Amino acid sequence: MSNPFSPALLWNLADQYGTPLWVYDAATIRERIAQLQAFDTVRFAQKACSNIHILKLMREQGVKVDAVSRGEILRALAAGFTPGFASGAHEPADIVFTADVMDEATLATVVEHQVPVNAGSIDMLHQLAAVSKGHHVWLRINPGFGHGHSNKTNTGGEHSKHGIWHSELEAALTAIKAGGLVLAGLHMHIGSGVDYGHLQEVCGAMVKLVERTHAAGHDLHAISAGGGLSIPYRDGDATIDTTHYHGLWHAARQQAESIVGHKLGLELEPGRFLVAESGVLLGTVRATKNAGSNHFVLVDTGFNELMRPSMYGSYHGMEVLRRDGLQLPTQDSVVAGPLCESGDVFTQGDGGVVLPRALAGANVGDLLVIHDTGAYGSSMSSNYNTRPLAAEVLVDSGKAQLIRRRQTVDELLALEMGL
Ligand code: LLP
Repeated sequence: MSNPFSPALLWNLADQYGTPLWVYDAATIRERIAQLQAFDTVRFAQKACSNIHILKLMREQGVKVDAVSRGEILRALAAGFTPGFASGAHEPADIVFTADVMDEATLATVVEHQVPVNAGSIDMLHQLAAVSKGHHVWLRINPGFGHGHSNKTNTGGEHSKHGIWHSELEAALTAIKAGGLVLAGLHMHIGSGVDYGHLQEVCGAMVKLVERTHAAGHDLHAISAGGGLSIPYRDGDATIDTTHYHGLWHAARQQAESIVGHKLGLELEPGRFLVAESGVLLGTVRATKNAGSNHFVLVDTGFNELMRPSMYGSYHGMEVLRRDGLQLPTQDSVVAGPLCESGDVFTQGDGGVVLPRALAGANVGDLLVIHDTGAYGSSMSSNYNTRPLAAEVLVDSGKAQLIRRRQTVDELLALEMGL
């Protein structure tokens, strides 16, 4: 669990921009990118944190980007990523669109900007072939097994809607050939927050898929290991050994290269790993109260901002900052938000069980800092209870930049008025 910022800086930002506030640290993101430099291509799964300024930072560091919606393609373009297909394994496309379904507007956008499509269904291949001969495609394969920090983030196996089922590979290749599409590569993403014990199995499955692709008479330029790398949300959680991780994939790539008879690019597609630890969410304590044996600390930020605890029972570290810098003795506290819903609790386990947490005593006016919220924090926010989206700030070399202003209620109402 980490918080890259000093209390003084967080108080300054809270005073200047108000709370709730998302704060990101550029140096942490650069550090994580550097840890993955052995991969030919690091492709940021922007769903984890899609602010245009974060995307620009990624681009400046040589990171490519994955988009999973038309909106994410347009964000990538706004951040300066170049549209167009790859010109080989060593010139990968800047933007790849990954999905299992594609609506008409998205189809038109991938065609207009020549964005390679990482297809998770054969229907997508047919739809693309009907309008864009020569389009570059990846095949996202579901290898028949998966793993995730929650069932909701496991993207492999027969219960997952994601990817083309492994036994359908040849059918997908036939659709590519018949449709005049160009196979760029094979992709596998078995889930988010994966247990690395599965890695050997995933790499082995990829080599077999390459073998079958080659046997079916298709060439390819690259393979993608997907994302899924975990981060230590709790003290004592394991941190990933990126050298070992790369080593296993590199070995798989070499086996695949000996099958196809030429070099293959190796892509990694992390979201969480690159940004989670760079971010905190700031809230202000607005009330405290007791209910039977529980002590509640109520803050001005809820699951409309950070959904992970309510959605998955996810753990996020937290700390209480007092303006005078003193730390009160710890107290078991249930930390909850302002929403009109019982599940709006940050300290809960899977299934919504409330879990009081030992935290420094908190009083009205104190700051609550929620750790490791750089991934799947802001990007999963909603306007529930007609609460405007919070502001975002990026700190780089001690300088803070507002990278998203706070939404206003008037902006929300304007969507519905004067139609
Ligand atoms: N590639 C594909 C095709 C994906 O579906 C995802 C995540 C990633 C890459 C990036 O996975 P990562 O490296 O971030 O684990 N909202 C959940 C996570 C859902 C992830 C969905 N797909 C959470 O808050 O944990």
